[in-house]
Amino acid sequence: MNRVEKLREHVDEILLNKNNDHDRRMAYVHLYGVAQACAMIAKKRKVDIELAIMAGMLHDLYTYKRKDEVRHLGMEAIQEVIKNHRLNGTTWLHEILSKWGLTTDEETKILCDAIQGGASKDKKTLELEEVVNDANVLWFYFYNPIDPEINFDEKRIEKLISEFGLSL
Ligand SMILES: [Fe+2]
Repeated sequence: MNRVEKLREHVDEILLNKNNDHDRRMAYVHLYGVAQACAMIAKKRKVDIELAIMAGMLHDLYTYKRKDEVRHLGMEAIQEVIKNHRLNGTTWLHEILSKWGLTTDEETKILCDAIQGGASKDKKTLELEEVVNDANVLWFYFYNPIDPEINFDEKRIEKLISEFGLSL
């Protein structure tokens, strides 16, 4: 079994334990959807496709996991998790990746920094950060392209549409 499938097993285990049906469904659709978009963008830009898929699967995992843990405390606690997810999520992600042992120390750092965003000026990290951010926006755009209520980063979408030779 390759690393992507091993990671998927770990992610599945965390998501299967989520106790909110709607949130669990959205977590699967979003994390695996963003991972596929990451793979497509990485392939186009010749960025490490394996790390890109892994980054997609992991990028909001902490938020989905933590939201369940604080749900009983109410909406304010959930908002707090969402507000601080990048920083708090990185500490957790670093610990869990070290425990799973699927990545080298260098890869763990690249993944954590790229997902946190703005954490490193390293070229490989910045490229991966852009892939994840673009994939996230692309996912929202294609989740329901005919829904005028869905907000997304229009500048980023315009650049992606042009990069992939599509039209708005
Ligand atoms: Fe996301």
